Amino acid sequence: MSIDSVASWLRAQPSLAGTAPEFDLGALPHEPVPLFVAWIEAAARAGATEPHAATLATVDAAGLPDARTLILKDVDERGWAVAGERSSRKGRQLAGNPAAALNFWWQPLVRAVRVQGSVREASAEESAADFAARSAAAREGRDEADWVLWRIEASRIEFWQGALDRRHRRVVYSRSDDGWTHELVDAAG
Ligand SMILES: Cc1cc2nc3c(=O)[nH]c(=O)nc-3n(C[C@H](O)[C@H](O)[C@H](O)COP(=O)(O)O)c2cc1C
Repeated sequence: MSIDSVASWLRAQPSLAGTAPEFDLGALPHEPVPLFVAWIEAAARAGATEPHAATLATVDAAGLPDARTLILKDVDERGWAVAGERSSRKGRQLAGNPAAALNFWWQPLVRAVRVQGSVREASAEESAADFAARSAAAREGRDEADWVLWRIEASRIEFWQGALDRRHRRVVYSRSDDGWTHELVDAAG
């Protein structure tokens, strides 16, 4: 393909291909984690490869966003856990500004999840346990003391489900002092 034809080639690529399952807006849980677990499990069952791979966005000292792919290590009421090296770009960025966004896109279910929140380092024991759980090949050449497990303590989570007729569904969970609320918001796309 020549560079001149990239734009038309891109336009010709299918988007929102796949089949979105029933999204029962009348049966939403009060908290986002059970819905997230149901969605990532459904994605795996539907054949999404590596549904636990996600894009982690952080902000650097100059205020510039940065993003990379990571593996989700755990999720529970404490947050979404990811791991990496403290001395890495993301490690330095999270030390300077402990906030992040984590995005998932699952095909063929036409579903995406956006998680946003502040970031807290897990205990040294949890980081060591995550390092120990890595394969021997993944530990090779890595400094265990440099390995950190972070938790994104989500304050906003968006569940987005696309539809070919463009009647996309978007549910946003927000955390307040009183706990979680959720609402159906207009979905663009
Ligand atoms: C599928 C996939 C999974 C990855 N998982 C991790 C991970 O769990 N932790 C990690 O530090 N880097 C992981 N990486 C590498 C990161 O994308 C990135 O290159 C690396 O962490 C350095 O990022 P940084 O320079 O922004 O710190 C993964 C890459 C891919 C493509």
